[in-house]
Amino acid sequence: MITLTRAEGSLAEGQAPLKVAWVKEGRLLSQGEALDARLGGLLRRALEGVSLKEGESLLVAAPEGQVLLFGLGEDARSSGGRLAQALLRLRFPEALVEPLEDAYTLAEGLLLGAYRFQRHKSEKEEKALTLRLPGVTEGVLERARKVAEGVYLARDLVNEPPNLLTPEALAERALELRALGVEVEVLDEEAIASLGMGAFLAVAQGSENPPRFIRLRYAPPGARARLDLVGKGLTFDSGGYSLKPTESMTTMKGDMAGAAAVLGAMKSAALLGLPVEIRGYIAACENMISGRAYRVGDVLKTFSGKTVEVMNTDAEGRLTLADALFYAEREGAERILELSTLTGAAVVALGEEVAALFATELAWGSLVQEAAHRAGEKVWPMPLEKAYREKLKSPVADLKNVGDRNGGAITAALFLSEFVRVPLAHLDIAGPAFAKKGHPLGPEGGTGFGVRTILEVAQAL
Ligand code: BES
Ligand code: ZN
Ligand code: ZN
Repeated sequence: MITLTRAEGSLAEGQAPLKVAWVKEGRLLSQGEALDARLGGLLRRALEGVSLKEGESLLVAAPEGQVLLFGLGEDARSSGGRLAQALLRLRFPEALVEPLEDAYTLAEGLLLGAYRFQRHKSEKEEKALTLRLPGVTEGVLERARKVAEGVYLARDLVNEPPNLLTPEALAERALELRALGVEVEVLDEEAIASLGMGAFLAVAQGSENPPRFIRLRYAPPGARARLDLVGKGLTFDSGGYSLKPTESMTTMKGDMAGAAAVLGAMKSAALLGLPVEIRGYIAACENMISGRAYRVGDVLKTFSGKTVEVMNTDAEGRLTLADALFYAEREGAERILELSTLTGAAVVALGEEVAALFATELAWGSLVQEAAHRAGEKVWPMPLEKAYREKLKSPVADLKNVGDRNGGAITAALFLSEFVRVPLAHLDIAGPAFAKKGHPLGPEGGTGFGVRTILEVAQAL
């Protein structure tokens, strides 16, 4: 648990058992300098001959308490995250932290870095950490807290095991957002069937746990714009009859990270009171094997009416998304931002830190790209190359659900684009949604990737 509060005065004037001063290229920042003057040059002497890289630190005993000299990097957010983790490791309960010029980004980094997922640990480490930031306004801290709440929710949902976070349980978690004034409706299997979402239902039919279609609407009075979100909501992806090997299945509880980002962003947007109407759509189900499961060779009738020949049951996300995207457009979406852990090919292309961005319209893609940049989330544009559309041709249906081995992230994106006419931005977050090891902004597991980008997109409308 981490709490950020504002403090009066400055690092030098404040009283605290521990003060943190940043060091960059061997030098203190301005509040650190003032503290050092008060300490008669103690800090400068401690730094002599020492080079502190980002995240490295030096603890100095001063007459009034300890001072932690902490290496600052290029990015205030990751430096904040590293600092929060270091303070938790050192078991300091409280500290006065020198603010940075970009106080908001530092606050966000501190909050994200301190995240832990302990729900299923018998022994929880109850380390409470209070950080006081001199001179930072309450408004800045409040905004960082509200954004972090959404990211925490998204991470919690991704980290929750798939035996507990079933499609129904995911819908329950969505319904909790009603308390914040978000309208939430959940359609059960019968309702999904009577709408005619044949592709979504086919993916879901192999599981004992029934699917849920979740629709959300955050509509503040006088909203200046509208944003429609779609998130992939596979609470577990075994691959189905095109079964994944065990190693590839280990992170597949996180195949609902797109949905988690949508729910996290909805939560933050409602807390922040963003003046934009945001709608969200999630087709939640499991991709499993059973006597009822869909097969390779099946032909499905999607909600749009187009038929799809299943050539690989592990390319299930695009089937559920085809129906969710069509639904969003039918609900009057003017433009759609869709997030999904869609392809291993996106991870091969861009690695585990960068999401692949595809857009059917340049302006919409650029807006999302710039928003991600402001949010500090790494995305890179990829081509929706029409020449590859023929890879999706089927001899028996309108389309098949996979292309060949090459350009897999592109053919997946092309497949999605078949089901919408309004501008679509598709973020393939298969790489950055789930961290296989700890990182500056958090531990291994769900990262909450996408929440901050969505919020920046909404703010830019
Ligand atoms: N959920 C996976 C994609 C994925 C892979 C997410 C790695 C996170 C990490 C998706 O449903 C899938 O299995 N895609 C297949 C598509 C293929 C059969 C065309 C893939 O990428 O192998
Ligand atoms: Zn799959
Ligand atoms: Zn999947």
